[in-house]
Order: sequence, then structure tokens, then C-alpha cells
Amino acid sequence: MTKKILVTSALPYVNNLPHLGTMICILSADAYSRFLKLKKENVVFVCGTDEHGTTTEIKAIEEGVTPREVSDKYFKMHKKVYEWFECSFDCFGRSSSDENHRITQDIFLKLDKNGYILEQGLEQLYCGKCGRFLADRFVEGTCPHCGYEGARGDQCENCGKLLNATDLKNPKCKICGTKPIVRETKHLFIDLPKIEPKLRKWVNTVKKTWTTNAINMTESWLKDGLKPRCITRDLKWGIPVPKKGFESKVFYSWFDAPIAYISITAEGRKDWKSWWNDEKTELVQFMGKDNIPFHTILFPSFLIGTNDPYTLVKKLSVNEYLNYGTGKFSKSKGTGVFGDDAMLLGMEPGVWRYYLLVSRPEKSDTEFTWKDFQEKLNNELLANFGNLIHRALFFVNKYYDSAVPETPDDKFDYSEEIEKITKLLEEIELRSALKEIMLLAKKGNQYLQENEPWKNPDDAKTKKVLANLVNLVKDLSILSWPFMPGISENVQKMLNVKINDWKDLGKKSVKKGHKIKESEHLFKKLEDKDVKIYEERFRGKSEVSKFDFRVGKVISAADHPNADKLYVLKVRLDRERQLVAGLKGYMNKDDIVGKNVIVVANLKPAKLKGIESQGMLLAAEKNGKVVLLEAPKSNLNDRAIFKEGNPANEVTIDEFSKLKITIKGKRVLLDKLVLKTGAEDDKASIEDGAAVR
Ligand code: MF3
Ligand code: ZN
Repeated sequence: MTKKILVTSALPYVNNLPHLGTMICILSADAYSRFLKLKKENVVFVCGTDEHGTTTEIKAIEEGVTPREVSDKYFKMHKKVYEWFECSFDCFGRSSSDENHRITQDIFLKLDKNGYILEQGLEQLYCGKCGRFLADRFVEGTCPHCGYEGARGDQCENCGKLLNATDLKNPKCKICGTKPIVRETKHLFIDLPKIEPKLRKWVNTVKKTWTTNAINMTESWLKDGLKPRCITRDLKWGIPVPKKGFESKVFYSWFDAPIAYISITAEGRKDWKSWWNDEKTELVQFMGKDNIPFHTILFPSFLIGTNDPYTLVKKLSVNEYLNYGTGKFSKSKGTGVFGDDAMLLGMEPGVWRYYLLVSRPEKSDTEFTWKDFQEKLNNELLANFGNLIHRALFFVNKYYDSAVPETPDDKFDYSEEIEKITKLLEEIELRSALKEIMLLAKKGNQYLQENEPWKNPDDAKTKKVLANLVNLVKDLSILSWPFMPGISENVQKMLNVKINDWKDLGKKSVKKGHKIKESEHLFKKLEDKDVKIYEERFRGKSEVSKFDFRVGKVISAADHPNADKLYVLKVRLDRERQLVAGLKGYMNKDDIVGKNVIVVANLKPAKLKGIESQGMLLAAEKNGKVVLLEAPKSNLNDRAIFKEGNPANEVTIDEFSKLKITIKGKRVLLDKLVLKTGAEDDKASIEDGAAVR
């Protein structure tokens, strides 16, 4: 019997629309399963939406509808986006389905019967006014680590630390603003310590096929010894707990979401049991790095604890994050490109797929920038891949009446490349595989260039060259199909062939006399002016992130020749800049030279009394006293940040003067945000209330 390969991509939360970062994981799983399908493997690719949990409940309250309605609405939006991105799921479903209720409860009952479920008391915040326990995101307060006042019950958005709701200072109910009280309630826990021996044994047999980050994270969990983990929540939206005394509770969404992989398969296929209860199934799971322990520890424990022969994960492919510039994607703030935005920009889905897969963050987080996107589209897709295809087909159309002019030969050999790409794909090294495909296109361009077919089109040799190139184009269409299926299909249309078998690679299957079709350009160049427009459009509403504050060292100070109150400074950041500063009368030149100061680095250059100032240095003033904002421990050109984001190319002094930056407890504040350089808060030794300008 042939091997079964089950591919899953982590189920995205339903109420966050997918952005480019979300797409990385899904597209990786999609490219891999498409590759397997071309190899005629027996594959099922499963994905869907993760619908339970507090985020959905809060969204429902905000929108004045039920959680079910929120999920229905966003589920449709997810589906549309993935269809547009050419995702080829075999089963796509939802964690809130009836099937998932059934299978989740069934797995729980087996865990309970086998003695793996514990009851324990837990201290939780409770809102008397709303009459509910405040789980995770239902509570907000001040972060005990960084002082950010909008921290949520599970995490602080400002410093990124994970929190327990009971750690928050001044907690408030997110719904009504009331101060909650601490109450003890009973919850159900999965007894991980009891499952641990079996889990460890299993981990040791499979982990070698996981990515390093997955192995490390899993080992560090196991090293500390597992603790019982709470799997119930006091919420209304979720799967009810089928146990006496717990009827008013639901399962924690991380309990039922991974189980939904199974339920979604069950909804889509009658033979689902043979996929999930079979040693011969190879389960390959794709996810972002924060999902690792859920897939290597928790989900396998749920399944092992049933004592049923469930299929457990074999290969794990973990991606790091894609940020939007230095900041986070945020739909509510309008920062970053979301799936529905990409659909409207008039570029082929294949262009996005290419960009996301060729810059797939594998070892560390990466940043989306429009410049980088433009470069990859214009220089790699258009000037290399697209250009080769267009030129090869164009010559055949022009010189040989659209017919392949000769029988190809094997003087142009790229069998090693094909082998290498195949191996990389088998190892799920997607980014490297795609880069190799582009190198092969480059090799094709060189071959074409060296042979100069435009010089002697009637030469027998030229005809062979073109026949070889047409076959390379055919091979590129096969190789690129997992990554850019639509583009690949367009290429095959122009070639007038339909080949969907990896085995055809390297075969000269486009024969002499075969008629091709008109060749069209596959890609449109992305112009600088459009890059500017998109940068503006997706920067986000947050005003602060426009400003590029950076650390610089003052090299010299001199009197301004035409003004009493101004100094002319030389400051080194990225390069040496000349700054005109109104500090004379407040401090001596010696007090300034040698200091690490903070500069608005993207301020539009302006002449002050005849001398150009290329930026502005920040100082705080109160009652006639002025101090510099200093960052003594920072490196030159380090960013100082109130809020992560994408600085604009240029800001004006008017825009800057609208910011109300003040000093409180020596820290530099803008509303509730603290100015930070690296890990350190920036300090100014001056009284509270001093204004920064
Ligand atoms: N919704 C989770 C996230 O986006 C992933 C859930 S994966 C599953 O981080 F396994 F639980 F389905
Ligand atoms: Zn409340």
C-alpha cells in the first residue's frame, strides 16, 4: 500500500484577518503539498479556522453580535483570501463544527476514563458587575514588567512578556471597566506528568526529523518536567465540558483547536480514520514558532492519553515571523498588508506567493518592506524568470512560425539542478529550493545570451538552442508550480502543454514541430511611484511611528555665525550630519560635545538663518532649564522607539511639533508610551512635566 502523507497548516484564529505573515505558514504547507501531489504521492492537506477563545467573544461584544455570527462572517473572509492565494486545501473546516464537538468530547472522555484528568482550584479574576470570570483577554491593566497601561490578561503588547491575569496591576474588566476581584474556581487539568514517560519515549524516536527550533523548545519543556495544564475555561463560546460539575465551562481553545485537524479531515473524507489511525500515515505539520509546544507536547499528549493508535506528528516545519517593517501588522491601526488588501492591488497571487516563500523566515524574524518586495518582483521574477520565458517563446514565435524548430539535445544539461531542487523540497527546505529555481532560470538566460539566437536564426545550432530553451521553460513551469501555480499554468498555456508530473522534469517532452502560443509578459514592473503610494497607504494611523528617532554622537559644536541662540553641531549617526540647535544660552559647547543624543533623523532638511540643519536633536525644557535626552549606553544610529512601525521617508517640523512628549519620573513619555533605545528606557534628568522639543 502506498504511504499516506497528511499535511496540516496551523489553524489561524478566525477573527484576525490573515496578513502576509499569517500567509507564510499556509503557503509553505501549500507549496509542500503541491510538490507531493506533482510527485503523485497520496496526500491530504488540511487547514481551517480556530474559532473559540476570548478573542472571538470580545470581537462579538464589540460588534454587538454573537460569537457564532462573528465566526461565520470571518470564516468566509478567510476562505476568500485563501482561494485568491491559490491554496489547494483538500479539507478546510472550522474548530466550532459539530464534528469537532463530538471528537473533542470523545477524546476528553477517554483521557478522563484513563485517569489523565485532574480537578484543581485556580485563582482567577472575576467581574462582579458582568458576573463572569475574566479569562485572558477579558481583562486589562498595567504591566508589572514595563508599566504599559494597556496590557492584557495573557500578554503585554508593549514588552511582549506573557502574563497571568492575576499579575496585572490595576486590573479592569475589558467590558465594563469594573475592578475585578480574585475568586477561586475549580478547573480540569490534563495530567501531563503522568503521560510524560510515554511522551518522552515518542519524542526521542521522532524528533530528529524536526527543525532545530522545534527540538530545542520541546527539550526545554521536557527538561523542566511537565506540569498539569488547565484545559477548561469559564466562557460561553466553546465546546462544553461533558463532566458533572463542569457543565457551565468550555474547553480551552488550545484543547479543541488541534483536535480540529482530525475533525476537519473527518468532515471532508469518509476514510478519515485510515489517515488518523494508521502507522503508515506520515503527519507533516507546518506552524509558526509560538505554536511548537502545542504540537510537540500538548496535542500528542491528548492523543497518547486516549490509548488509541492515533497518528502523531512525524515532520514539523516551523517558520519564524514576518513583521511589517519593524512593527506588527495591525488591521485596526491600518498597519501592514492583509490578505484582502493584497487582493486589491492588481498583482498576481503568484507574485505574493513568490515573495513570501523566497523570503520565508526560517532562522530568524524578517521584515516586509515595499523596497524589498519591489526588488524581488522587478529583479528576480520579471528580469530573470519572466524574461527568460518571454524571450525564449518570443524567438520561437518570431523566427519559426511558432513551432519548436529542432529536436532538442542534451548539450544544455541541468540535471544536477533538478536533483538538488527535488532534494531540497523533500527536506522541506522551501526557500532554498525556490532560490535554486531562480538560479536555474538565470542559467537559462546566460545560455540564451551566449548563443545570441537573434544573430543566426537559421543556423541548425540556434534551432537546437531554442528547442532546449523551450524544454527548460517547460521544466521551470513544473518546478515553479508548487510555489506559483497560477503563473506556472500561464506558462504552460503559452507553451501549449499540460504537464503535472514531476517525473517529466528533464525529459525533452516538447518535441520538434510542437506549436506554441503567443507569449505574453507574466509580470508587470512595480514602479517607484507605486512603492511610495503603498508605503504611505499601509503605514498605519499611528502618528508616532512616522518619526525616525536615532542615537547620534555629537562630534563638534560651534557658534552659528548669524544667530545668538543657535549652535551648529556635527553629529554622527548613519553618517555625519550637520544640526542647528537652539541650545546656546542654556548650555556650553563642552556640555554637548561627546554626548550620545537622540535625533529626529528623518526630518526634512531646513535652513536656519542660512545654515542647513539635517535633523533635530531632542531636549527637554522646564522653567528655563534645558537638558539633552541622552542614550549613553546605545550604539550610534540605534533606533529610539515609542512604538514599533515604519518611519516615513520624511517628516516636517510641523508634524513633529504636534507630538506632546513629556518627562515623567525621568522617563520620556508620549501618552502612555515610553521612549526606549534597545532594552533601556531613555532618561532625562529634569522635573516631571518638562516638554520635549
Ligand atoms: N490559532 C493558533 C494561532 O494562530 C494556531 C492553532 S493551531 C491548532 O496561533 F493546532 F491548534 F489548530
Ligand atoms: Zn465587567
